[in-house]
Amino acid sequence: MRCGSINLPINPHHPSIPFPFSKESKTERRDNSNMDPSRIKPPPMKDLTIENITENVIRTNSLCEDERMKYVLERLVTHLHDFARETRLSSSEWMAGLKFLTEVGQICTDVRQEFILLSDVLGLSLLVDSIDHPKPKGSTEGTVLGPFHTHEAEEINHGGRMSHDPRGEPLLVVCTLKDTTGSPIEGAKIDIWETDSTGHYDVQHAERNGPDGRCVLRSSHDGVFWFRAITPVPYPIPHDGPVGKLLGKLHRHAYRPSHMHFMFEKEGYDHLITYFPPPPPFFLALRKALALYLRNDPFETSDAVFGVKNSLLVDIGKAGPDYARKYGVAEDHALLAYDFVLVSEAETRELRAQNSRIALDRLGRKVKIVNGLPVPDLD
Ligand SMILES: [Fe+2]
Repeated sequence: MRCGSINLPINPHHPSIPFPFSKESKTERRDNSNMDPSRIKPPPMKDLTIENITENVIRTNSLCEDERMKYVLERLVTHLHDFARETRLSSSEWMAGLKFLTEVGQICTDVRQEFILLSDVLGLSLLVDSIDHPKPKGSTEGTVLGPFHTHEAEEINHGGRMSHDPRGEPLLVVCTLKDTTGSPIEGAKIDIWETDSTGHYDVQHAERNGPDGRCVLRSSHDGVFWFRAITPVPYPIPHDGPVGKLLGKLHRHAYRPSHMHFMFEKEGYDHLITYFPPPPPFFLALRKALALYLRNDPFETSDAVFGVKNSLLVDIGKAGPDYARKYGVAEDHALLAYDFVLVSEAETRELRAQNSRIALDRLGRKVKIVNGLPVPDLD
């Protein structure tokens, strides 16, 4: 099924997405003592104006016991109010925004997550990934995961076939996995997925029999993993909903350049499944992931979701005599060879703290973030 048609499934792994608009029952609401007006004492507010509404809202939210949540909400309210003050937002524009977000929510289903798509096309997904998973020079950068990862891929042996599309151009993929000191990483779990030759993931075909175009592999003692795929092709993100309409208004196309997704999992490395163990499907969708992009793709410099980075561009070459002999293919067989470098969790933590200090300094805020909270930066 072509993206853009109606009923386009995206990802079958969001059955338990905690929709922000999920309904509490009346009983649950009554039992929520945090909201009982006879038991809480909100800070007084009065005479609200354009100038003091922000501090009043922040003060009202200040009873929250989760300090990180309180901080994030404080900054969100501050920026949201400044946005309205700065743009001189009109009531009709405000209502148009609410209508748009309502439509984004209404088109979400168990297999379609329009909010992630919205985050992607606004560049927020890549921004958050880059902040939370910084990469030191020389290590492989991350990029957006996209909405098509599933957990049903079969584990295959090295040399196995991940795509059975007869119309795709056969591609030999040979990779190594190392740490930042150059030592091979053995036994990492590697999740790989790509579209078929028409630019559709398996989950986009209503008539599919099972997973295809996806597999799981384990790196060997020398960090090598290799498999047979097909040469990736460009494809459009789902654009039959409100996000697609937004792209149209902005004169943006919906295409992603040809790419293949990779996700690594190895204890001690930033791969990452560090959110909330065991992470529910919604958070899995936000995991750190990589993709390799074909150089000179027509959409290389205009990816609809901003995922392309120079270090992730690859060339498809020919196997040549050495690879042909070693991997049992013809010399003119298409080849993708790439060396991944994974960064450790400790390295990531250190870099995250460093970047945080630089970023806040640029914003003119003399604080640093410690355990998710701002503290005065006195160094
Ligand atoms: Fe993709």
